[in-house]
Amino acid sequence: MHFAVGSDHAGVRLKAALASHLEELGHQVTDFGTNDPSVSVDYPDFGAAVGRAVAEGTVDLGVAVCGTGIGISIAANKINGVRAAVVHDVTTAQLARMHNHANVICFGDRTLGETTALDALDAFLAAVPQEGRHLNRLAKISALDDAAGLRFETKEG
Ligand code: RB5
Repeated sequence: MHFAVGSDHAGVRLKAALASHLEELGHQVTDFGTNDPSVSVDYPDFGAAVGRAVAEGTVDLGVAVCGTGIGISIAANKINGVRAAVVHDVTTAQLARMHNHANVICFGDRTLGETTALDALDAFLAAVPQEGRHLNRLAKISALDDAAGLRFETKEG
């Protein structure tokens, strides 16, 4: 699969570890920056870049990192078609994919250890989005996108 990755200065270290892990697994990675942890930048720029790549379908899924994962997920979620989820462990990563069909997974470099983050990413990749009752709920989320304006079609619909 093809992944977009992005972070602010606070997430550079963990983003690099996650990107390397994806590449070791054979995935393609496009890095939207930033890559200098010593220069303070604004997380919305990088959350939006990852979100747009997912929404426009140039990648399959996104990975976004900031200090807590919160700011960059809020920014990514402003892009229509994006379902960005901050995860904290294997369980939240699995459920974000299975129940919420999250297409951008977000991490906090200052709040999560690297091993836990890598395990959570593996769980996210292995999880299969479930249908049934979840599709109706996802349709309601998409309707909110539609109400807000143009909705992009992601690779997953
Ligand atoms: C940057 O200092 C920090 O505010 C940012 O990385 C993130 O944690 C915001 O949600």
